[in-house]
Amino acid sequence: MVLKPATVIAIYPGSFDPITNGHLDLIERGSKLFHRLIVSILRNDKKEPLFSVEERLEMLREVVAVYPNVEVDHFAGLLVDYAAERGATVLLRGIRAISDYEKELQMALMNRRLRPEIETVCMMSGEAYSFISSRLVKEVIGLGGNISGLVPPSVEVRLRKRFNAAGAGSRVHSK
Ligand code: PNS
Repeated sequence: MVLKPATVIAIYPGSFDPITNGHLDLIERGSKLFHRLIVSILRNDKKEPLFSVEERLEMLREVVAVYPNVEVDHFAGLLVDYAAERGATVLLRGIRAISDYEKELQMALMNRRLRPEIETVCMMSGEAYSFISSRLVKEVIGLGGNISGLVPPSVEVRLRKRFNAAGAGSRVHSK
C-alpha cells in the first residue's frame, strides 16, 4: 500500500519573465487543487531576462497575495531535487497548445526518470489565455502594442516603465 501525503505540495516552476494572466489562471486553479502551491522562479544565468529574479519575485508576490496557500520562491539546479527539498510531490505545468506538449512530455519523462516519486501534473491553459506568452507580451509592448488584459495591471505598469526607460522598440527579449 502506498501512503499518500496528508499535505500535497506542488511546485509551479518557470521563468515568469514576467508573469502573465495565463500563469495567474494556472496559479488560481492550482491553488484549489493542492494544499500548498509554490510558484518558483528558475535562476538561469544563461538567459538574459528583462526582469531580475528579485523583480520577478516582487511581481509574483504582489499578484499571489490573495491566495493564502500560494507562496513564491526561486531555485537553481535540478527542479526535482529542489522539489524534494521543499517536500513537494507534484510539479505543475501548463499546456497552451499542442506545440507545448512535446517539450512538457520530454521534461516530465526526464523528471520522472530522475525522481519517480515526483509526479508532473499538466493543466490545460484557459482558452482565453492559450495564446499568451511572456515572450510575445514583451515583443508587443516593445513595439508599442496594447497588452492590457494579458498581464496583471501591476505587471503592465512595470513593463511600461521598463520599456519607456529603454525606448520603445529597443528591447525585445526572448522567453
Ligand atoms: O518558463 P519555462 O522557461 O517554460 O520553465 C522551464 C523550467 C524552469 C520548468 C525548466 O527549464 C526547468 O525545470 N529547469 C530546471 C533544470 C532541470 O531540472 N532540468 C532537467 C529536467 S527537464
